[in-house]
Amino acid sequence: MLQDKFGREIHDLRISVTDRCNFSCVYCKSADPKNYFPHRDLPTWDEFLRVARVLAGQGIRKVRVTGGEPLLRDGIVNFIGDLHRIRGLTDIAITTKGYLLPEMAAVLAATGPVRVTVSLDSTDPAKFARITRTPRSCEKVMAGVEAALAAGLKPVKVNIVLVRGFNDDEIVEFARLARRQDLIVRFIEFMPLDADHAWSRGVVITAKEIVETVNAVFPLVEIPRRSPSETALRYQFADGQGELGIIAPVSIPFCGQCSRLRLTADGKIRTCLFSLREHDVRHLVRNGATDDDLAQFFTRVVHQKEPGHRINEPDFVQPKRTMVYIGG
Ligand code: GTP
Ligand code: 5AD
Repeated sequence: MLQDKFGREIHDLRISVTDRCNFSCVYCKSADPKNYFPHRDLPTWDEFLRVARVLAGQGIRKVRVTGGEPLLRDGIVNFIGDLHRIRGLTDIAITTKGYLLPEMAAVLAATGPVRVTVSLDSTDPAKFARITRTPRSCEKVMAGVEAALAAGLKPVKVNIVLVRGFNDDEIVEFARLARRQDLIVRFIEFMPLDADHAWSRGVVITAKEIVETVNAVFPLVEIPRRSPSETALRYQFADGQGELGIIAPVSIPFCGQCSRLRLTADGKIRTCLFSLREHDVRHLVRNGATDDDLAQFFTRVVHQKEPGHRINEPDFVQPKRTMVYIGG
């Protein structure tokens, strides 16, 4: 079992399989080919699987596949299938922009149970196209959500990063969407991981503000997290019509219960979304490390996991990488 020096057990791995993305969201930015990692820097599927297998042997139970846009990388469906076959892994999930789900939901579902989370920052097609800088993206992503549901990829979650002056006027509209029984809608507080360093405390819509806004229209009741390390605070509508989540890393940090380790698309382990230091596992894998060497490396790395993200400390330093290069 992997445990850090603060006694936190690490049982979740997030693998970013590519830094390529089909969107270039204003708060994240990529999709510029000149900034892509060279292909040789991306671990192969076998290299990712080897890391996942060794970590599963050390107590990792959940793997969440992220990007960039994970569905863009050739071979992703086989990779998900291979993850299902790793002994010890009991929860396979994917965080996607959803644009490719209309074509891919059914083949993904055929690999086995996969939880799908789709990022959707506006319900207004024109605004969505502005945010993602991709025409007709909203319609396609909404179709992707329906395709995921139709394929049986349950539960489907929808993530919304709220930014003041941008999409905070849509909180109630998103709450209305959350009243569908087949979706779990989650608001995310905007974090200082944006490409333009435009983040400021003023543009963060806090959990408190979200609850007040929704409560005024649809009264909410807080319900317990599914597990102590779940990122989201959970609410049910008081009339029983659906569930809403709020991920509040800025106003209500959840680092004390963190169970996560990240592997970036260029093969670096990050012990925190906000780590200023990374640990190169690709180099080890490509230079003859045995499984035991890797396991010892992971034990040492986990021991260096930061106590918290420090966003609220006066000397906070924003990591150089933005979300698209870390993996969300
Ligand atoms: P579940 O497995 O369904 O609980 O999903 P998840 O919430 O772990 O994964 P998802 O990709 O949906 O994460 C949602 C968002 O939570 C991410 O996009 C981040 O904004 C935020 N988040 C996830 N992990 C961390 C973390 O370790 N620290 C902080 N500060 N934020 C995180
Ligand atoms: N703050 C919070 N969440 C973010 N995401 C991307 N950038 C940020 C940020 N600065 C979210 C995306 C997606 C996930 C992968 O990360 O919206 O849901």
